[in-house]
Formats: sequence, C-alpha cells, structure tokens
Amino acid sequence: MINKRNKLIKIAIDSPAAAGAGTLAKAISKHYNLFYLDTGKIYRFIAYLKLRFPKKWNLNFLNKKIKSLKIKDLENKELVSDKVGTEASIISKDIKIRKLVHSFQINFAYNPPKRFDGSCLDGRDITYNIVPDAEFKFFITANIKTRALRRFKELKNLNNEISFAEVLKSIKKRDKSDYNRKVSPLKKTKDSVLINTTNLSKRACFLKIKKIIDRKLNI
Ligand code: C5P
Repeated sequence: MINKRNKLIKIAIDSPAAAGAGTLAKAISKHYNLFYLDTGKIYRFIAYLKLRFPKKWNLNFLNKKIKSLKIKDLENKELVSDKVGTEASIISKDIKIRKLVHSFQINFAYNPPKRFDGSCLDGRDITYNIVPDAEFKFFITANIKTRALRRFKELKNLNNEISFAEVLKSIKKRDKSDYNRKVSPLKKTKDSVLINTTNLSKRACFLKIKKIIDRKLNI
C-alpha cells in the first residue's frame, strides 16, 4: 500500500505522440514547482532494453530494472529515437508490462520529494488510470501533420537519419495502436480539458493552461 501525501497539486495529461505535451508539462511543472514525469520514457526504456538485450529480456529481468529505475536512466538520448518509440508502442500493449510500471508511476505522482508542491505526469492513461483524482486534467493534441513535423525537427536536431514521410507514417501507426488497443487505450476523459496546440505557440498554450490552473487555485 502506497502512502499518499496530502495537499498536493496533481496534474494529469494524456496526449497522442508528438502533440507538444512534454514541452508544456515541463514548463507548467517548473512554474508550479511540480515533480514531472514523462511516462512514455518508461515504456521507451523497456523497449530500449528489449532492443539492446533481446536474449535477457523477460519479466524477471524487467522487474529488477524497474525496481532500480532512476530518473537519470530516462534521460538517455537513445530513448528518443523513432525505432525505440515504435517498439514502445508494441510492448506497452502488454498488461503484464503495464502492471510492472504501475506502482513506479503512482509513487511518483502521490509521493513527490518534499521540496515539490505536487506532481505532473503525462502519457496515455494518466487521467483515468494512474492519477484519476488529479486536480487538473488535460488532453493535449494537434493535427497529425503538425505533430509529425515537430517530431521530424526534434529527431533532426538529434542527428537521427529519418525522412518526414517516415516520421508521418510512424506517428499514424502509433496513433492507431495507442487509440485502439484493448489495455489502457489513449482517450480523452470527460473531465479533461482539451488543448489543441496546432495553431498555438508554446507560450500561448502555456498561458491557456496557466489561466485554467490559476482560476481554480484562486491565484
Ligand atoms: O509519449 P511517447 O511517445 O514517448 O510514448 C511512447 C509509447 O509508449 C506510446 O506510443 C505508447 O504506446 C506508450 N505509452 C503508454 N502509456 C503511457 C505513456 C506511453 O502506453 N502512459
């Protein structure tokens, strides 16, 4: 049983791939002093282990890796590649794998280090599965071409050799899988605020979310 700290501000965000949720969540977390977790990175980490250690990769091996998982492990640049992202969307369909990372995420959301005033998690099932009682819930999206272009630029900056057409195809495939899978599919819950970032600057998106939060917090 996990102890839950009281009086935390918890923000839950779900979004399809490359919608800009990570950038926004980081800015919001910094502004409100929240502990931030990009949960996609955990699935990417597991996918990366599968590609790197295919022979050792089983539930026992993963259990040990997740038990000793540090935030630093999720900062590995190799996790960002399209190959790892595609593999992540495959392994994340497995309920046994999702169960393995469940308590890591719950602990992160409900027990952030004392120096933080709360937590902010983004992913695919955060608003209804991981932090269903979050004070703030958002569904962040953008049209598919905009998302593909953003991911393409991000990968180019990291010197990944990939064409725009390949990125677009890969994001379409990932959307199909994330929205339609049986276990913890991506969806917008009724109590989430929809933020469409297609025609908005990062600053405009940040201010939109900030306005919603400040109003409820009476700031
Ligand atoms: O967010 P990101 O694109 O890095 O996530 C990689 C993949 O991990 C997603 O396509 C999705 O299949 C999976 N994922 C998930 N649940 C989450 C976060 C990510 O299934 N909470």
